[in-house]
Amino acid sequence: MSADLSVQLTPRNKRGLLLSNPVMTASGTFGYGTEYSGLFDIQKLGAIVCKGTTLGPREGNPQPRLVETASGVINSIGLQNIGVKALIKDKAPIWAGWRVPVIVNIAGDSVEEYVKLAKMLDGVKGVSGIEVNISCPNLKAGGAAFGADPNCAAEVVKAVRAATSLPLFVKLTPNTGDIAGVATAVAEAGADAVSLINSVKAMAIDLTKRRPSLGSVTGGLSGPAIKPIALSMVYEVAGSVDIPVIGCGGITKASDALEFIMAGASAVQVGSATFNNPRAALDVLEGIEHFMEKEGIKSLKEIIGAGRV
Ligand SMILES: Cc1cc2nc3c(=O)[nH]c(=O)nc-3n(C[C@H](O)[C@H](O)[C@H](O)COP(=O)(O)O)c2cc1C
Repeated sequence: MSADLSVQLTPRNKRGLLLSNPVMTASGTFGYGTEYSGLFDIQKLGAIVCKGTTLGPREGNPQPRLVETASGVINSIGLQNIGVKALIKDKAPIWAGWRVPVIVNIAGDSVEEYVKLAKMLDGVKGVSGIEVNISCPNLKAGGAAFGADPNCAAEVVKAVRAATSLPLFVKLTPNTGDIAGVATAVAEAGADAVSLINSVKAMAIDLTKRRPSLGSVTGGLSGPAIKPIALSMVYEVAGSVDIPVIGCGGITKASDALEFIMAGASAVQVGSATFNNPRAALDVLEGIEHFMEKEGIKSLKEIIGAGRV
């Protein structure tokens, strides 16, 4: 008999969200899923998280928006996306026919924008959940990220919670001094699960131009360089909240994902690795299956948090 990899990601939500396995794609690195459906069987994945979605379409930040660095990439894409109306009209009907659940990552400049997005997505066929990206600057409160402060983070999550009954994930930023405090605050405010980490604030300088390499000066570092940081934050958060934790940051292979799971993550998201290997998420899933078979592990639940002391 093959092992049970299923995971209930939102146990305290009435609708629930049961994944067939714990491997998801990370927002912004897998488009709308449609771009990859011809490359491998994406229906085998646990879930897909789509590109960050805003009320109106956005063009994103000035070029250059990507710079490679040691074991990682710094991006300043800046939420280039088609906007929620086009997503509901053109993408959700496709997702509605898929076996793999799709979670919509949302971003806003104010609490009101997040609320509008959540209301618009509530009840849309093909949308299985919402992931709130709280790394965005709160323009009404001086531009600090919502997710940098427990109170600001809780305010937006409480408002979104009241606007939708969809399974609600909150994507945490590492760019805060108190990620466990933010996680605890959003769990109390009604999050069904937390995903972490988003990219780490970073920059590079172009020596010839004597200017920052990125058009927007700073960006977010992702890839293997951030894995140890992400892992320690997942470990810390998993010890602080009683809702499921989704680990993300630098996962390129099954052993990375298994480290996150043993640190306490119930599921993982594969991000930048997809840029080098479009089927990275599926490779990670197959590697987890192989490991479980080799180790005689019958259920994923046996190893979630197994590495905690
Ligand atoms: C090009 C790019 C675009 C991204 N866009 C988003 C986004 O729209 N919303 C979001 O919450 N995270 C976004 N992220 C962050 C990723 O989802 C992920 O949290 C981060 O890259 C760390 O995982 P990784 O090291 O596996 O890439 C983006 C990352 C990259 C590299």
